[in-house]
Amino acid sequence: MASSPKMDVLGTPCKTLLIVVVFFYFAFIYLSNQYPNCPASDFFNPFLKNAQFSSSISTTTEKETIISTPTNLSHLVFGLVGSENAWHHRKAYIESWWRPNITRGFLFLDKSPTGDLLPWSPASPDYKISDDLTKFLNKNDVTAQRIIHAIMEVYREDHENLRWLVMGDDDSIFFLDNIVDVLSKYDHTKYYYFGGHSEFILSNYWYSFSQGFGGAGFILSLPLAKAMAREMENCLIRYRHLKAADQTTMSCIADIGVSLTALDGIHQIDLRGDISGFLSSHPKFPLMSLHHFDMVDPIFPTMDRSNSTRHLMKAAAADHSRMLQQTICHHRPTNWSFSISWGYSAHIYERIMPRSYLQFPIETFKTWNRSPRPPHYMFNTRLPSDDPCEAPHIFFYETIDKTPENNEISTVFSRAWPRGLPACSFAGNHSADSISRIQVYSPATKRFQIDRSECCDIVQVDGDKADVKFRECPTDEIIA
Ligand SMILES: *[C@@H]1O[C@H](CO)[C@@H](O)[C@H](O)[C@H]1NC(C)=O
Ligand SMILES: *[C@@H]1O[C@H](CO)[C@@H](O)[C@H](O)[C@H]1NC(C)=O
Ligand SMILES: *[C@@H]1O[C@H](CO)[C@@H](O)[C@H](O)[C@H]1NC(C)=O
Ligand SMILES: *[C@@H]1O[C@H](CO)[C@@H](O)[C@H](O)[C@H]1NC(C)=O
Ligand SMILES: *[C@@H]1O[C@H](CO)[C@@H](O)[C@H](O)[C@H]1NC(C)=O
Repeated sequence: MASSPKMDVLGTPCKTLLIVVVFFYFAFIYLSNQYPNCPASDFFNPFLKNAQFSSSISTTTEKETIISTPTNLSHLVFGLVGSENAWHHRKAYIESWWRPNITRGFLFLDKSPTGDLLPWSPASPDYKISDDLTKFLNKNDVTAQRIIHAIMEVYREDHENLRWLVMGDDDSIFFLDNIVDVLSKYDHTKYYYFGGHSEFILSNYWYSFSQGFGGAGFILSLPLAKAMAREMENCLIRYRHLKAADQTTMSCIADIGVSLTALDGIHQIDLRGDISGFLSSHPKFPLMSLHHFDMVDPIFPTMDRSNSTRHLMKAAAADHSRMLQQTICHHRPTNWSFSISWGYSAHIYERIMPRSYLQFPIETFKTWNRSPRPPHYMFNTRLPSDDPCEAPHIFFYETIDKTPENNEISTVFSRAWPRGLPACSFAGNHSADSISRIQVYSPATKRFQIDRSECCDIVQVDGDKADVKFRECPTDEIIA
């Protein structure tokens, strides 16, 4: 510790004073509770009066509202920024999660829609044409500024009963119920700037570790959205020299006095190729968004991109709260480890692996840009391997149903391809080659608390099929 001896000498009388003050404070609280009719002293009175005054001017009704009415989807307004050119194929991504007439917000286009976009699809968000900023900024390329300015435009268009303003790209998928659940834990009358880092370390270094990467979505609470709308023109002029939209947004928000709160469920997906490894070991946080669906391989190997998206959202429709949550259990008679990423994939390993290890994604993906040496990512990875004791058997989610009794959801995962390796010998040579399907039963009720992962049991291994049942972990269960 670097505290100097001089400070310790000064510290002791100060501490004594502090203790005395604290003692009298609690004595006062205690006595005023004992004698509620006794008038407060003149010393405390001004503070009490001020407190009452300030809460009555800072919209008492808003404060009461947050207690009586929890945040729901009607309090969120989305601003999606796209281009006419890309919307022809990207609309499939947005339509997979957008709830027409329920989700509020707009798509901002650079120019009027043409061709097969007309008549405008009722399953798409309403569109607006972005304000023309070329004259205001006196330059031709205003791509970045158009994106930032959309914050003001969406606020201008629709802010009645707005609590949270969500900005995103046109190739992003949002998980609405999870976003609502996460946001409802926060007070929207305070200043919040939520977003996500890039997965790729160098992107954070090049742009900023302090910015929310906009494609994945960033979220502004009401007072911050209002302040950004008010400050927009000054902000654009002050940071006219910056070329990157997210960096400019972060700079303007920082100048308002607000810093990024990064959330583990918001995913920029600054990755390339096969991201199945990443999606199979999601951090223990509700999944809120996935970006760059255009840039990565289709997430289900037998489908194209838009069908993959729709397929994933079918699982999400059954249960948002468990989406991609990783649940691990072990089958002791065969020494197998099962790792299930709910609604997406299942892995079987032929030896017992603890959760501490399986929580790291297998590096099936590539870096976003060239990255000469590690570290490449903001998380640890496991390298793909041909070692039979290391390589998983891989299954992807195929069908999802509510069981007839309706209190369970049954998800079937099918083998993606034969593993093509011998059995793991030191764990007893128990090959899992014969397993072609895994059926997972999970409760049909939403999981409100995710302070701890769920546990599971392999209830049956029968011929080519394994049945797995989810349950809450008992206090003393260890996943290893
Ligand atoms: C959302 O909350 C508002 C109150 O703020 C309420 O009027 C409305 O009915 C709620 N909507 C849903 C879908 O629960
Ligand atoms: C949305 O609402 C309008 C009228 O308010 C209705 O005509 C339209 O069918 C609705 N669209 C959907 C997809 O429910
Ligand atoms: C995507 O889904 C549609 C409708 O289910 C189907 O007609 C089409 O063949 C699918 N495309 C691919 C590549 O799977
Ligand atoms: C499981 O693996 C251990 C070595 O890790 C081995 O000693 C044990 O016999 C195996 N159990 C079975 C049932 O094969
Ligand atoms: C597993 O099989 C290999 C080769 O077939 C053999 O060498 C090894 O002894 C076997 N291990 C166990 C634990 O049975």
